[in-house]
Amino acid sequence: MTSQQLARSESPDALTWWRHAVIYQVYPRSFADGNGDGIGDLPGITTRLPYLAALGVDAVWLSPFYRSPQADAGYDVSDYRDVDPLFGTLDDFDRMLQQAHRLGLRVIVDLVPNHTSDEHAWFREALSSPAGSPERKRYLFRDGTGEYGELPPNNWQSIFGGRAWSKVPGDSQWYLHLFDSRQPDLDWNHPDVRKDFEDVLRFWLDRGVDGFRVDVAHGLIKAEGLPDFAGHVAMVEGSGGAHSNHGPMWDQEGVHDIYRSWRRVLDEYPGDRMMVAEAWVHPPARLARYVRADEMQQAFNFDYLLTHWNADDFRAVIDRSLAVVGEVGAPTTWVMSNHDTVRHSSRYGLSIPGARPRGIDAAGEQPDEALGLRRARAAALLTLALPGSAYLYQGEELGLPEHTTLEAEHRQDPAFFRTGGAEIGRDGCRVPLPWHSDQPSYGFGSGSATWLPQPASFARYAVNRQDGVAGSTLELYRSALKQRRVSALGTGTLTWLACAPGVVAFANGPVRVFVNTNDYPVALPDGRAIVASEPLLADGQLPANAAVWLAGT
Ligand code: NOJ
Ligand code: CA
Repeated sequence: MTSQQLARSESPDALTWWRHAVIYQVYPRSFADGNGDGIGDLPGITTRLPYLAALGVDAVWLSPFYRSPQADAGYDVSDYRDVDPLFGTLDDFDRMLQQAHRLGLRVIVDLVPNHTSDEHAWFREALSSPAGSPERKRYLFRDGTGEYGELPPNNWQSIFGGRAWSKVPGDSQWYLHLFDSRQPDLDWNHPDVRKDFEDVLRFWLDRGVDGFRVDVAHGLIKAEGLPDFAGHVAMVEGSGGAHSNHGPMWDQEGVHDIYRSWRRVLDEYPGDRMMVAEAWVHPPARLARYVRADEMQQAFNFDYLLTHWNADDFRAVIDRSLAVVGEVGAPTTWVMSNHDTVRHSSRYGLSIPGARPRGIDAAGEQPDEALGLRRARAAALLTLALPGSAYLYQGEELGLPEHTTLEAEHRQDPAFFRTGGAEIGRDGCRVPLPWHSDQPSYGFGSGSATWLPQPASFARYAVNRQDGVAGSTLELYRSALKQRRVSALGTGTLTWLACAPGVVAFANGPVRVFVNTNDYPVALPDGRAIVASEPLLADGQLPANAAVWLAGT
């Protein structure tokens, strides 16, 4: 089935697919390895697409697979119109897309517009051209300060640690990189940059992709004059939902023009193509500006991801999220984990359940694995019952924990190196998936190679140990996704229900949802259990840290 065929079965407005879709994030290097070299690839993904179709998701979002020296696991793109040989070829991409569409799955690809790789042709030309040359104008080159230009142009810090500026060897200039020094920031005021990215959009739209996840969507335009900023910058900051990416490099008015122009490009294509913003902005009303009617269709709801395991906090974030995007007519998204955060099954097992550490290593607090999993299963029933669109991160349907004891010698995240290890980094959530407990690399590839070592505990979580096993996390997700579809929860309306303290309770269509965040059981009203994260107690009570969907209003 092509995108066009998929689109014909949809109605154009309230039921447009992305308004209620469950979108599964594939992190290509860790999903499935088709050629046994230890790194996941496009042929590997193609082989496993039937698993995703059977899981019951609507779409797949692929993190970058473009040509890249992999200084930031592919978020450093040297050619936006080609597949990195590590992941396969353009033909492999086309085969993957065709197979996904045949199975009724849409495909969203990642777009990385804030910065290129230092190996991108434009940056190479810039480095080999003199200060002030047109070749340098596509990036943010500036003269240094200090008597001899030996100091950076301003005091900005990189999100990955250290200075946000690197000096050009043998030259008076510096270039800006909000991330790694191998990820120079583009100057989005330059017409070449604007034009080229529109062409890149068309390149992938022409191939048939259903949309784009837009990386660092809040960072493309910097405040005029690049003024000093003493505040701390981070991809995600603070706790309890109060992350604060303020500063002259974030959330500037000018970014919205860019998304309006991209929206016009997408609208030229049939089939409800969409964009989702990765924008760590706060408060939610600022985020809602990215999903106004003529901009993107969705933005990741990181406030929800950051919420601690606490009923009041969940209710508040849900209310807020629904209200702010409702004002601009956009759907809410719900997301608990991704390739940048500690997996929520591990976060919920910490002494502050839901706290977001910047990675976990053997020296740090080790999560209570069983408790974290129990809460993660309950959280899945919360997330999948909410109206709007939900994002799942690969492996969460297995209840997969973070690798919390990965040795430093295996780490690859540039944030780990740029902070001298102070930031443990994101490798722990990027470990290759376990497909089969009894095979080398737990079935990730044909051999034993994996680009990051898998912990022994992954055997317990492998797909083959859960497939068809009543009560497994995989079967819980499959049932919830099926019921969500049958009961049209994604397009439903939430009505809060009266409940005991520590419980989140609401009705959505024909389903009543109860999430018990307490460490003790609570009574439930009458009703047939459709899906439960734990067996209900003999007296009908909902156990501690568990959730249930009851039939009836
Ligand atoms: C956000 C991506 O999700 C992350 O993985 C990456 O390191 C930064 N953007 C820079 O592209
Ligand atoms: Ca491979």
